[in-house]
Amino acid sequence: MSATFSIQPMGRFAGQSQPVKRPKEIACFSYDENHEFRLDDSSMKYYYTPQLGVDLSKGFNTFQKLDDSKDEHLDSLLKTIMAHEKEAGKKIDAHVVTWRGMMTKIMAALFEQQDGFEMNATLYQDCIFIEENNEYKVQSRARENHRGPRRGPPLDVMQFWGYKFETLSTLPNPWAETSREYIENRENQIVNNKEQYCSVVRTGIGKSTLCLGGEVDAIWDSKPHPGQPINWVELKTSAEIRSPGDMDNFHRKLMKYWIQSFLLGVPKIIVGFRTRDGVLVEVKEIETHNIPQTVNSRQGARWNADMCVNFAAEFLEFLQATITEEGIFRIRRHPSSPTIEVFKVEETGHGSIISEEFKNWRIKL
Ligand code: A3P
Ligand code: MG
Ligand code: MG
Repeated sequence: MSATFSIQPMGRFAGQSQPVKRPKEIACFSYDENHEFRLDDSSMKYYYTPQLGVDLSKGFNTFQKLDDSKDEHLDSLLKTIMAHEKEAGKKIDAHVVTWRGMMTKIMAALFEQQDGFEMNATLYQDCIFIEENNEYKVQSRARENHRGPRRGPPLDVMQFWGYKFETLSTLPNPWAETSREYIENRENQIVNNKEQYCSVVRTGIGKSTLCLGGEVDAIWDSKPHPGQPINWVELKTSAEIRSPGDMDNFHRKLMKYWIQSFLLGVPKIIVGFRTRDGVLVEVKEIETHNIPQTVNSRQGARWNADMCVNFAAEFLEFLQATITEEGIFRIRRHPSSPTIEVFKVEETGHGSIISEEFKNWRIKL
């Protein structure tokens, strides 16, 4: 059993965007400072403007870094969906359940030539569950780390800058409950990326209803009544823009920023611009919904948001037409390949994609 989805010719995805639903948070969970799962919003952070001039490398030697080589499958997402279903007394209605990161890779595939990916998918009770193929992730990280000599700071230090910026820009409690001392000394806080807040949303692209789980970095104010849009904030760092070439690169990066934020309904992105050696020099607020226009209005735009949506809508329909029986399927794109392949790797069962706990719950329902 195998099928191929062509990315080329791209032109067929042009035109008006297929309908999209506004993402609505249906549940959430947190990982605490030891990366232990909690069915609550305890790790949610509050945005508060960072101080400029800070060296983002400061504290690298005390970084509490998550070991992300472990395969966590969809376990935390399924735990949270299960709790939501117990409360609602019925199954969620999604055609596809996955991490936001997987959907980002799919949606970016049309314009992202270099990136390959591998995912595992299984059909269970009329819904396709998709996880990252962990082996592939670990191997591609290793390849990246061993690519020949490069200029500039080590890769792990540069990665730390992103988490440092999060610590500099957030508070663990609302501003009114935070001391001035804490706010002014955030540059001395220990950076810990084991702690996360994850939002679980129901959303739609074209004819498909999706349930996505993904990390959100911070909230602007506080959570409104259930169902109302939430003022989430996505935090990003980027090299300061000094030339037209830098601007070009930044506009290309905006695609991933936009897709990532669009999928969870994050309305605002805060970019911390840094010098080449990692000093925070400027902070800019970007409205997610303005990004497609901003990019289109530039000459030689390299991507188009409507085309990303149309591509994703068609790919999701293809997936549902392809994965119609039990077993495990691989979704694979080789770097630079003009196709995405879907083929069976296990004839029966659901592997470790669906946890035992989730199966036991669904059997009873
Ligand atoms: P920056 O985005 O500021 O570079 P996110 O932006 O998704 O909230 O992720 C937070 C940080 O995790 C990133 O900060 C970056 O440091 C690191 N990160 C995320 N995705 C990564 C990837 N694919 N490779 C390396 N680092 C990554
Ligand atoms: Mg994040
Ligand atoms: Mg971020």
